[in-house]
Amino acid sequence: MSDVKHYKEALQHPIFNTISKAATHLQLDCYVIGGFVRDYLLQRGTAKDIDIVAVGSGIALAKKVSKLLPDNPKVQVFKTYGTAMLKTNDIEVEFVGARKESYSEHSRNPIVEDGTLEEDQNRRDFTINALALHVSTDNFGEIVDPFGGLEDLKSKIIRTPLDPDITYSDDPLRMMRAIRFATQLGFKIEEKSLQAITKNKDRIKIITKERIVDELHKILLSNTPSIGFKLLEKTGLLSFILPELVALKGIDEIEGQRHKDNFYHTLEVVDNISENTDDLWLRWAALLHDIGKAPTKKFSKKVGWTFHGHEFIGSKMVFKLFKRLKMPLNDKMKFVQKMVLMSSRPIVIASEVTDSAVRRLVFDAGDYIEELMTLCEADITTKNPKKFKKYHNNFKTVRQKMVEVEARDHIRNFQPPVTGEEIMQTFNIKPSREIGIIKEAIKEAILEGDIPNEHDAAFTFMIKKGEELGLTVMN
Ligand code: CTP
Repeated sequence: MSDVKHYKEALQHPIFNTISKAATHLQLDCYVIGGFVRDYLLQRGTAKDIDIVAVGSGIALAKKVSKLLPDNPKVQVFKTYGTAMLKTNDIEVEFVGARKESYSEHSRNPIVEDGTLEEDQNRRDFTINALALHVSTDNFGEIVDPFGGLEDLKSKIIRTPLDPDITYSDDPLRMMRAIRFATQLGFKIEEKSLQAITKNKDRIKIITKERIVDELHKILLSNTPSIGFKLLEKTGLLSFILPELVALKGIDEIEGQRHKDNFYHTLEVVDNISENTDDLWLRWAALLHDIGKAPTKKFSKKVGWTFHGHEFIGSKMVFKLFKRLKMPLNDKMKFVQKMVLMSSRPIVIASEVTDSAVRRLVFDAGDYIEELMTLCEADITTKNPKKFKKYHNNFKTVRQKMVEVEARDHIRNFQPPVTGEEIMQTFNIKPSREIGIIKEAIKEAILEGDIPNEHDAAFTFMIKKGEELGLTVMN
């Protein structure tokens, strides 16, 4: 058996010795399997989640391991699934008895029976996730790879141990996982697998929205998210998950006038922004920044293709989309809405950068001006090098102006220089509509540059405005 490969160095963490001892005591074989082995072999760092398969009772093994550990961690048992979990120091270990599974048509929950290690590996999603390392003393570190997972890791292939039609139909979440792994790892999905995903695409409906969104987040947080979205589109899954994006696909031509394909443009923007930010929600904003373009698209003989008001419509669509996908309707959603709503603002002012336009931009974007500029810079996808340079230079000018204007006018986190209290005292009036009108006029005058953002100037302006409204200053 000289050609059997060993990876003892993968099992350096002391927990593996403890598991090994416990297994000897219970006289059973056990293996570490799945993500831990895959990520070790890919040198993606050492995973903190360890999955152990026991040929026998996973729950009994977990309990024994806990007894042998100095801190005797609590063992959480999930009887229905025959699994047990414990946390010790920095790691989380899940134990399961080797099993074979069969699935019914309408559910992801399988019928489970005890099985051999190979049967257990067989029921897993991908060959690269079915690799197992022996943890039992005699064979410590020996790899068990009946489906060619090592070879697939080398050739960067996502492949299922079983007929892919069965693997994906059994658990349709795996369709998302295949695409997510392809995106994260830069792997190719085997052709037969791609066809099976296309065939089973509508089974994605039985998967909970939360799990789908988890996978979408992982795709979005990859280095090149477009890989995943192209695969989702190609297989037809995207129509079930984000039809708003599919609606952006295609180029129309009337009287020789064409618009760009907003789907592929969007994906370029997402890839661009991913070079500059790891903020998940800003990446979501990039993904959704143009979704209002499908419902607002019009052709006019005079001006060609237009998408009037697409930012406003798009920001409304963000709410519906988040709601449909059961994503939290919280500040993150509001942030994405704001980015979509304001996504054209810096572009509009970039061709002629005035102080007042910059002040208004900074005022409206509030705390998120940096994120908005990052989005707009990512939005430059022209293939014309002259234009590319020109647009980037325009944004540089906007950024410079922002710094100048901010140093002078402190518009960011704007606080009214004259308070409502002061207005009431000056004119001896009670809370009323006039106070709002005066405050708004002061803000407008500052943003326009008619008065500086200072108390005394704003106070003089307030008196003038109050008198215009028929108020008199108290002596
Ligand atoms: N698995 C599976 N089908 C699924 C989910 C998981 O077959 N739908 C198997 C795979 O063998 C996988 C293991 O269970 O490797 C552990 O799953 P999980 O912890 O969800 O994923 P990892 O592969 O560890 O990777 P990641 O943490 O990136 O999701």
